[in-house]
Amino acid sequence: MQERVSYFFPKNFYWGCASSSHQIEGNTYNDWSEWEKSEERVGELKRQNKDPREYISGSAANSFILNNQDIACLKELNVNAYRFSIEWSRIEPEQGSFDYEALKNYQNFILKLKANNIEPFVTLWHWPIPIWVRDLGGWQSKKILPFFDRYVKIVAEFLDKNVDYWVTLNEPTVYASNSYLTGQWPPQKKSLFLSLKVIKNLIRAHKSAYAVLKNIDTNNQIGIASHNINFDPAGKKVFNKVVAGLANYFWNEYFLNKISGEQDFVGLNYYFHNLINYGFGKNENKLISDMGWELYPEGVKHVIKGLDKYKKPIYILEHGLADKDDKHRAWYLKESLKNIHEAIASGSDVRDYFHWSLLDNFEWADGFFPRFGLYEVNYKTFERTPRSAVKTYSEICRENGFKNDN
Ligand code: BGC
Repeated sequence: MQERVSYFFPKNFYWGCASSSHQIEGNTYNDWSEWEKSEERVGELKRQNKDPREYISGSAANSFILNNQDIACLKELNVNAYRFSIEWSRIEPEQGSFDYEALKNYQNFILKLKANNIEPFVTLWHWPIPIWVRDLGGWQSKKILPFFDRYVKIVAEFLDKNVDYWVTLNEPTVYASNSYLTGQWPPQKKSLFLSLKVIKNLIRAHKSAYAVLKNIDTNNQIGIASHNINFDPAGKKVFNKVVAGLANYFWNEYFLNKISGEQDFVGLNYYFHNLINYGFGKNENKLISDMGWELYPEGVKHVIKGLDKYKKPIYILEHGLADKDDKHRAWYLKESLKNIHEAIASGSDVRDYFHWSLLDNFEWADGFFPRFGLYEVNYKTFERTPRSAVKTYSEICRENGFKNDN
């Protein structure tokens, strides 16, 4: 990459953070919350010598109640956008009975965001499902599709006046593979057949949610958050290139291709660089996050370039790292932004950058140990304390970019 003197971004660029309901709200009641406490799960953790309490979402960051504190953090960061998710199990705890108080709570939150000039990006499904949906067969069953549609309609009709950006589904491929192929997440199925079925149903769900949202308001901007990996063939070996090409097609593109007529933007979550050298691996070298994930700032540029062909605006809906002591966050942020800037300079229509995450949160099967937050959360007092990268990010957001200090 050619180093520049400064990295300023296009006018009206969105700077934000992202989060999801189950990971921060606290006291959700859904298939995940029940799985976390199940005998099987607790037993499995004990066998691994882990403390099961660290793996139960419980009060999480208590954000459903403390959302004013979250807004204070967003303001301190100078962001002009925030992505969060609506919790289906709160809106429709029992089949057909809708909780309008919960909807009002989200509406008030959105109004507060708007009063602070923060654009809401609303995710409609970020993995957990209500218990009754699980009991109907969850995403492996076509039966739930009309219910998802109805939920989308009710939420959108209620919130539409104040929301323009909708993310229907978060990372459908990650969900289908972790919940139905590798069996790490509830409902812990290990079946290629079922995971493909789930993908198919999620494609259907997105398409009909798209129609529902457009029907309500043609100006709605709708997409998914796609988890794209930088599959990088080592050297010039044809074999590595073929494997990288196939992985790229099935993991990064398949879902997006299927919905290409039903998306107004391409939403990207970027975390992984995968060096392919006669198998899938990591770069042997370099820095890693607390999760052991390689920190490869260039990767984001390559996945963005892979999205150009959809000829739609690109929204970076998640990008970040688990870094409790903030050793790498500011560096990773700036180096990644340099690469995003370069992608824009070479013609990519990137409209935003959202850091994952605003706060420390419940990291799914890994529980509370990974610390993805710009703000540290004390899980006893729920106090939010800025990590050092808050200063860096807030200046970038305020200035719409930064000068190179390397
Ligand atoms: C998910 C988030 C998760 C983050 C870090 C993304 O794949 O959308 O829910 O916390 O990665 O693992």
